[in-house]
Amino acid sequence: MPIGSVPSELGIKLMQQEHLESIVQMMREEGWTPSLGDLENVLCYEPEGCFVAEVKGEVVGSVTTTLYTHFGWIGMMMVRKNLRRRGIGSTLLKTALRYFKEKGVPTARLEADPPGVPLYESFGFVKECDSQRWFGKPFKLRGVPGTGRATKEDLEAVLALDKRAFGDDRSRVLRRLFAYSDFAFKVRRDPSLGIIMGRKTAAGTMLGPFIAANGDAAKRLLRWAVGFVEEGEAYVGVLETSGNARLLMSTQGFRKRSVLTRMYWGDPPRSGNPQLEYGIAASATG
Ligand SMILES: CC(C)(COP(=O)(O)OP(=O)(O)OC[C@H]1O[C@@H](n2cnc3c(N)ncnc32)[C@H](O)[C@@H]1OP(=O)(O)O)[C@@H](O)C(=O)NCCC(=O)NCCS
Repeated sequence: MPIGSVPSELGIKLMQQEHLESIVQMMREEGWTPSLGDLENVLCYEPEGCFVAEVKGEVVGSVTTTLYTHFGWIGMMMVRKNLRRRGIGSTLLKTALRYFKEKGVPTARLEADPPGVPLYESFGFVKECDSQRWFGKPFKLRGVPGTGRATKEDLEAVLALDKRAFGDDRSRVLRRLFAYSDFAFKVRRDPSLGIIMGRKTAAGTMLGPFIAANGDAAKRLLRWAVGFVEEGEAYVGVLETSGNARLLMSTQGFRKRSVLTRMYWGDPPRSGNPQLEYGIAASATG
């Protein structure tokens, strides 16, 4: 049962740079840890597809979309605590799904925190799999041959593998994340065999996207990247369906700490190859 009616003063607007500080503030109050840069990234991917809810000129909710070729991603869905169960989340989600329809994208995907699952289910979203967060402490390097810093050219070389892993072309997202990341490493022998990027967040150093053609390349990339984590923990977003990634994490001293639910709406998503995807890029974009 709704706890109240939709506020009469509710307005849905395109998200603008000037809204981002308020969104970050709202999310921090909820214990989420996005940086301003994370929001700037999603806004840059889809400036016409990110929305805020406002009441009396104050930001009270947000949702973002990122469109790929065959499917799109929904992220940063939040409503201010004191205004929940009044239909604002539903209004934002409808706005995002209408944007998908306008753009002719048949499938919406997302990673839901537990409070979001009932809302998404009420719209007909279906579970794909768990998306796990594995945390590990940095360890000192004991010689990891065969890896090196990735250049822009190395990123271009690995995009074909990434498309197989992810199931769609996300090159524009990866190019921006590459520039935004604190480090990125390649397989020196052949950069088309894998890449791992790392960026500091309030929760630790997020390692992802992390793509590798085989277990040996993945192990080298992970060990090398973990050696570059200066403080705090490293963490990786691992799909339940990737046995390769779960095995790697557990044998490299990482432990599963939390779980989100990957869900889709519309046509069943064109699947990638989770055995090549060792770490997601971000929960807001896949
Ligand atoms: C998830 C969230 C955005 C929902 O926003 P909201 O404005 O409260 O959503 P709505 O009022 O439109 O709810 C729509 C329906 O979703 C379901 N729902 C929403 N919150 C629910 C809850 N806490 N328990 C059970 N069902 C819930 C209900 O079916 C509800 O319809 P009803 O109120 O008529 O029963 C909000 O709870 C939130 O910001 N949570 C914290 C952040 C978060 O986890 N976001 C999801 C990330 S993927």
